[in-house]
Amino acid sequence: MSDSLILQQKSDGILTITIQRPQALNALNADVIATLAEAIDVAQTDADVKTVILTGSGDKAFVAGADIKEFADFSGKQGKVLAQQGQNLLFNRIERSAKPVIAAINGFALGGGLELALACHIRIASDNARMGLPEVSLGVIPGYGGTQRLPQIVGKGKALEMILSAKMIGAEEAASCGLVNAVVSPDALHDAAQKMARSIMKNSPKAVSTAIQAVLAGYEDGINGFDAEINCFGASFETEDFKEGTQAFIEKRKPLFSGK
Ligand code: CAA
Repeated sequence: MSDSLILQQKSDGILTITIQRPQALNALNADVIATLAEAIDVAQTDADVKTVILTGSGDKAFVAGADIKEFADFSGKQGKVLAQQGQNLLFNRIERSAKPVIAAINGFALGGGLELALACHIRIASDNARMGLPEVSLGVIPGYGGTQRLPQIVGKGKALEMILSAKMIGAEEAASCGLVNAVVSPDALHDAAQKMARSIMKNSPKAVSTAIQAVLAGYEDGINGFDAEINCFGASFETEDFKEGTQAFIEKRKPLFSGK
């Protein structure tokens, strides 16, 4: 495993993680997945990190998918382990991160690359980005959560069109179906992701992470999302951030949240 597979830059509460495998269009091999997973884990307890931005190196690709060359000879059993380990180690952890994760999609986001962006809480794309789940063109199906998260985000009809046709869509089409939250020029992508991060960081970190938890609860098997929301809402009243947020409103000043 090598840390040079990702670049980590921290400033003003924002951790920017750049996947650095440009020679393979940042394709996700086992080492990249393990390195990314570790960075996401460490960020959870790093008090200097409030928000994470995930992007790809170079101007061509965010991530062009799982590494096809790595799994080309796999058996069914190995394929199952690949999907299971990837989902458990990285994709689910990103989605469940208590700190918001923003995907800055700077080019191709295909297969596992789009699935990585789908696991993030917010997606911003450059206007030259191309997105798709081309797995069926390789004789396989999306394995890093794409068959579940894409329909959750764009609806079953559009998701089935994208998955079954294996076609890429451009950034504008992605915005029009809700796949990405915003589209900007490539030069403006980094600033747009930072601006989004700052707009989230004005709020209570505790409430932000609780809101993520409540939204995700609605997609969990056997959990009633409305009940989860009621419990999360109640728990918020016990936090320092709630006392500070409401007091600041009453005193007509900006809140200074501790995140507790
Ligand atoms: N895995 C491994 N290597 C990849 C890769 C991938 N997913 N995507 C690109 N590369 C490599 C290419 O093999 C090439 O390497 P070489 O120079 O050693 O040949 C290099 O990156 C540059 O790529 P191209 O020459 O193909 O660049 P291009 O501009 O002609 O095409 C592209 C760009 C359309 C993105 C094309 O690279 C492509 O189609 N890539 C594969 C996309 C794909 O099918 N992704 C899904 C993977 S399966 C998956 O993700 C399964 C899952 O859900 C778990």
